[in-house]
Amino acid sequence: MGVTALGYLGLRGPDLAEWRSFAGDVLGMQPAPESDEETLFLRMDERAYRVAVERGEGGLAYLGFELSNLTELDRLAVSLETAGLAVKEDAELAARRRVHTLVRCEDPAGNDLELFVGQLTVTDPFVSPRGAEFKTGPLGLGHVVLPVPDAADAWHFYVELLGFRLSDTVSMGRREPMFLHCNPRHHTVAFVAVPDPPQLDHFMVEASSLETVGMALDVANERGDEVLRGLGMHPNDQMVSFYVKTPSGFAVEYGCNGRIVDDNSWTVGHYEQASSWGHKPPG
Ligand code: FE2
Repeated sequence: MGVTALGYLGLRGPDLAEWRSFAGDVLGMQPAPESDEETLFLRMDERAYRVAVERGEGGLAYLGFELSNLTELDRLAVSLETAGLAVKEDAELAARRRVHTLVRCEDPAGNDLELFVGQLTVTDPFVSPRGAEFKTGPLGLGHVVLPVPDAADAWHFYVELLGFRLSDTVSMGRREPMFLHCNPRHHTVAFVAVPDPPQLDHFMVEASSLETVGMALDVANERGDEVLRGLGMHPNDQMVSFYVKTPSGFAVEYGCNGRIVDDNSWTVGHYEQASSWGHKPPG
């Protein structure tokens, strides 16, 4: 079975106060009470947090990939070790991340991955500062798009070791991003080979309604946040979304109506453009 969801996401940003207001006002995420001057924990649902922002230079800190049980986690850790990768169970880090069991490793691009079982669900209800609801649950928190130095290495790691399946590809000149799913969300990880890649192109969270997305876009514009791509739709995951720059410098895609994948009937697709309409840069 392998990985079943992106359970949590760790980011770094230089100004946590700015992140707190951006996440609350624009994204509708709720700061968790455990947040302090070094880490901002953001809630999207019944889990203790889904996004953690650590104080530091803007970038990706870690990806928390969920597995359904301890047997699967053990099996995956053995597979990774057999493939020659370093893995390490870390009880102290598991406590910090508020999960039951956690195994650390790195992907071929050098990103810190945390394979875990049992993220804490809290009793206090999630209350969005502006009434947003998110599609999470078995779909995980959203997706990440990772620029990587070598597509074959990324394919081997994410598909052959972690168990992701190909949803489709998009031809964009010499670049051909590959979109991978590990649950019914159309993609949880996409990667694209680029020379000298940054750590993260963007992450995506999915709101439960178009109204929530439209309101987020209004708020971003009113606040003067940098909207990198206006409202539009992707032909492959059919997400209606916009992209706005986060206080970490990379983008967040904020969307709704994403396509659901059924592994029993899915046929891999291939597309010639990233957007079927919209997603225009400003101006
Ligand atoms: Fe995306």
